[in-house]
Amino acid sequence: MSHPALTYTLGDRQVARLGYGAMQLAGPGVFGPPKDEARALQVLRDAVAAGVNHIDTSDFYGPHITNQLIKKALHPYADDLVIVTKVGARRNDKGGWLPAFTPEALTQAVEDNLRNLGLDVMEVVNLRSMLDVHGPKEGSLEPQVEAMIKLKERGLVRHIGLSNVTAKQVADAQAMTPIACVQNLYNLANRQDEALLDQLAAQGIPYVPFFPLGGFSPLQSDQLSEVANELNATPLQVALAWLLQRSPNILLIPGTSSPEHLKQNLASSEVKLTPEIVQRLNTIGQR
Ligand SMILES: NC(=O)c1ccc[n+]([C@@H]2O[C@H](COP(=O)([O-])OP(=O)(O)OC[C@H]3O[C@@H](n4cnc5c(N)ncnc54)[C@H](OP(=O)(O)O)[C@@H]3O)[C@@H](O)[C@H]2O)c1
Repeated sequence: MSHPALTYTLGDRQVARLGYGAMQLAGPGVFGPPKDEARALQVLRDAVAAGVNHIDTSDFYGPHITNQLIKKALHPYADDLVIVTKVGARRNDKGGWLPAFTPEALTQAVEDNLRNLGLDVMEVVNLRSMLDVHGPKEGSLEPQVEAMIKLKERGLVRHIGLSNVTAKQVADAQAMTPIACVQNLYNLANRQDEALLDQLAAQGIPYVPFFPLGGFSPLQSDQLSEVANELNATPLQVALAWLLQRSPNILLIPGTSSPEHLKQNLASSEVKLTPEIVQRLNTIGQR
């Protein structure tokens, strides 16, 4: 199998398919400051130095703290760096995740992101559905998409994306405005979005899986470990390589708070999977 191209168009920017997800930089439970701020700043600087030009974040990580770390580490930003944020949620004082889904709250959230990141305009903002915090749920997102369109008209947002959404919600939103990307849960073991992923690929729209490594408890499987041993790679490198090979419109945003893990994750582009190995790995998600 030929190795997939390692860049793809996001909005009107060309980004490396191996990006970085900043959520792990805040304190435990994505709440409060990191235990080791210097290490968090190093991860961000190492990522950009290694060629990462797509960083996924949100002002509700921390809250505010993750964006402030990104600004501290990387501002003034390189011209080619695309920072993508998401709006739709807020945190309570115990770290709980609550909807902040009114047009006013979405507007406030975009303004908070801009201020904490030190930007005048966000390249891409994902509207994160909070109809159900745990997963996509059918229902109208029309008032929220309208609010995003207004923010675009005000010049605060260049491209609108969607997160935690169903295929119908994507199609309904596309009838209102261009959608630049979709960010949903997807990885080797969670493949409910296969049809949506292929549909977006046909439209040239990036699909950005969140929890590409399995999230807070990374993927573990005997089959994955077996393949990793054969390839002299780590299981999580194989999981990322599988995503890279699954479809050219997949953009990866693996999250880590560790410079060492970052290095391993970025090296996953060197892991080549034969069709036979892909077939073996595919059985993990079919169980
Ligand atoms: N739209 C949404 O609703 C939504 C939801 C969740 C996440 N996201 C986005 O998606 C991004 C990725 O998700 P995520 O960070 O939660 O999950 P993830 O990328 O699937 O996995 C992160 C976990 O894997 C560990 N890890 C990373 N690299 C590793 C390696 N090489 N070896 C061993 N362990 C490793 C991390 O711990 P260490 O820190 O110890 O490396 C962390 O526990 C987030 O940063 C966020 O931007 C979006």
